[in-house]
Amino acid sequence: MPDVKRSWDKVARLYSHIYIIKTNTIHYGPLCPGENRLGLLGDISGLHAIDLGCGAGQNAVAMAKAGAVVTGVDFSANQLGEARKLADKFNVSIKLVNKDISNLAALKSGDFDIAISACAMAFVKDLKRALVEAFRILKTGGRFVLSVMHPVQYIIDGDERSVHFNSTYPFVPRLLKSSWDFENESVKFQHYLRSVSEYHNYLADTGFAVKKILEPKPTLKTPHLGFSREIMNEYPYIARHLPITLIFLAVKP
Ligand SMILES: C[S@@+](CC[C@H](N)C(=O)[O-])C[C@H]1O[C@@H](n2cnc3c(N)ncnc32)[C@H](O)[C@@H]1O
Repeated sequence: MPDVKRSWDKVARLYSHIYIIKTNTIHYGPLCPGENRLGLLGDISGLHAIDLGCGAGQNAVAMAKAGAVVTGVDFSANQLGEARKLADKFNVSIKLVNKDISNLAALKSGDFDIAISACAMAFVKDLKRALVEAFRILKTGGRFVLSVMHPVQYIIDGDERSVHFNSTYPFVPRLLKSSWDFENESVKFQHYLRSVSEYHNYLADTGFAVKKILEPKPTLKTPHLGFSREIMNEYPYIARHLPITLIFLAVKP
């Protein structure tokens, strides 16, 4: 079984250099418009915001630049090291917490106005527990924006003339193993391929009111630049015809 935390530790430094992500706005995923175009959070100035699975900190920095008081959580110490360097580069203050997002016992209940989690929840085995934690640390009325890679792009392949299925839709969550070559080393990862309804219903079961589900048309006008260009080059059919990022806007009632 790949140890995902160790894998992120291994790739952290190179990943943030290769997959350039801007910090002028919050990004939700590859080929996906940013918060500046989607407007899911509104004015966050002065609000307490948390980024769950913050990685190299681009969203934490973007929120701090927008005036929020920001905490970033990630279980990879090396990813947090990159986040610290980025915060220093932009001269913003963010609090970084080295924890698993499915166990946030170190954080008080009802402390945050906003929680975001971009492209991280698919790595979490116990999704229900992670969502219960996100719900707990939010204030009443707090907003949660959750984004993951859209499941359809994993199952369909092809070009303009012929489209075929790689596998079936994940009616039941499926563990996908992958490996990335970084500096001549093949680093192993795994993540859970889950259906749209699985995410929606887990959010609803946790107590969230799901306000919107977004499947934005892929665009290169995205803050998530590096990986977007790679997908566009390697999978041009998918990148033009299928949603790449799936977003949920939920509120703690
Ligand atoms: C694809 S990166 C996304 C980082 C960032 N949210 C972004 O959009 O740029 C996924 C991140 O989730 C973190 N992660 C995965 N599972 C986690 C868990 N159970 N607890 C905390 N962090 C986790 C990884 O360490 C990695 O930094």
